[in-house]
Amino acid sequence: MSLEQERAKERIAAELDRSRRYSNELTIEALDEAELLAQHSPLMSPLVWDLAHVGNYEEQWLLRAAGRREALRPDIDGLYDAFENPRAERVTLPLLRPDEASEYNSRVRREVLDTLDGADLSGAPPTSGPAAPSEHSLLEAGFIFHMVIQHEFMHGETMLATHQLRRGAPVLLEEAPALASVVAPASREVLVPGGPFTLGTDDDPWSFDNERPARTVDLPAFWIDTTPVSNAAYQEFIADGGYLDPRWWSREGWEWRTRREVVAPAFWALENGLWTRRRFGRHEHVPPNEPVQHVSFHEAEAYARWAGKRLPTEAEWEKAARYDPATGRSHRFPWGDADPEPRHANLGRRRLGPTPVGSGPDGASALGVRQLIGDVWEWTSTTFYGYPGFHAFPYAEYSEVFFDDGYKVLRGGSWATHPTAVRSTFRNWDHPIRRQIFSGFRCARDVDRA
Ligand code: AVJ
Ligand code: FE
Repeated sequence: MSLEQERAKERIAAELDRSRRYSNELTIEALDEAELLAQHSPLMSPLVWDLAHVGNYEEQWLLRAAGRREALRPDIDGLYDAFENPRAERVTLPLLRPDEASEYNSRVRREVLDTLDGADLSGAPPTSGPAAPSEHSLLEAGFIFHMVIQHEFMHGETMLATHQLRRGAPVLLEEAPALASVVAPASREVLVPGGPFTLGTDDDPWSFDNERPARTVDLPAFWIDTTPVSNAAYQEFIADGGYLDPRWWSREGWEWRTRREVVAPAFWALENGLWTRRRFGRHEHVPPNEPVQHVSFHEAEAYARWAGKRLPTEAEWEKAARYDPATGRSHRFPWGDADPEPRHANLGRRRLGPTPVGSGPDGASALGVRQLIGDVWEWTSTTFYGYPGFHAFPYAEYSEVFFDDGYKVLRGGSWATHPTAVRSTFRNWDHPIRRQIFSGFRCARDVDRA
């Protein structure tokens, strides 16, 4: 086996281990059986469902699709199929209990590590050429392992959203705040020059089908905020009556806001004239200098209109995050092609929330835009769709079935996203009304034509 393959396998084994630790810390190590089986919100699965689902997904893709053997537990596949069972109903299923789920996951993992040992990961990553990639390309460049690792980390973030909705005393420890230095950016907005750039990727071995293929996109110049919108700025919108003024809202947004009587981000409350929030069981003042989170697309859009701006399109966001005007190249991350380090971005649950606006100057893009990766997912104005030449790989239910259906694209990952599960081409999506996710936004605007 080549040294390169050996290194790739070591990385895969380490990330598989890390993703399992992330899942275990948020389930069996955090809560008792009753809380793991409970439904903390109709929006979310019981945590024990997520736990066995990640093991079952791993079995499907790393054992069975690799042709290795029969199902380990033929009785459970249906239970953990996300399409067969909507989240709100999973609590009624005969789910594996926490100790059974854990034991099942370990059995799958032992077999997977054997498979990895003997796997041939040579070849190029799946491309989106004229023909759909074939089955044998599942292993090429480690693609299928990367998919499973990222899947488990995504569920880790989903589990954190469940923890945030859960009522009761805190169970997740607040670790030391990330030591990201805060140095105010030189300006509040930067001008992204007009012209072509490369959007998407053909050769990133960690990319999902929806990030491919790469293409050249020519955008007019635009302004974009150097940081996400802060709680302080968002409170000005509230204080100015922004929630009560239909001028700022789309018709759909206003209808949602009035029906749900939304007057502030999720988990916020006004007490004696001061905004407080609930965060993983802690009750605290809303810190003015943090990026606002737990806002829906509709709220983000209304704020932007009130501020005389708009949300960036998905392509604008990606150009701000990848394009280096000095070379004309698109990078994997705002700071270049190197993997994220703590000095670049607040990722991987180092703390239970975003870092203050203006943090992490080392993570700035070539154009000086901050906090694009990590801290909060950023709503864009774009409806989730497939890039021209898209081919579902390896299965349509990852993203194709969600195309052109009103889901809005979010970019950049949050403080709860693991560094392995995000890059500047990564695309997330959700319903425009959702706000239990770690979502915020930044604004953009057109260049004035004099
Ligand atoms: C990419 C976050 C929208 O949670 O619905 C998890 C990820 N896909 N299991 C989701 C996913 C299959 C997905 N998002
Ligand atoms: Fe899943």
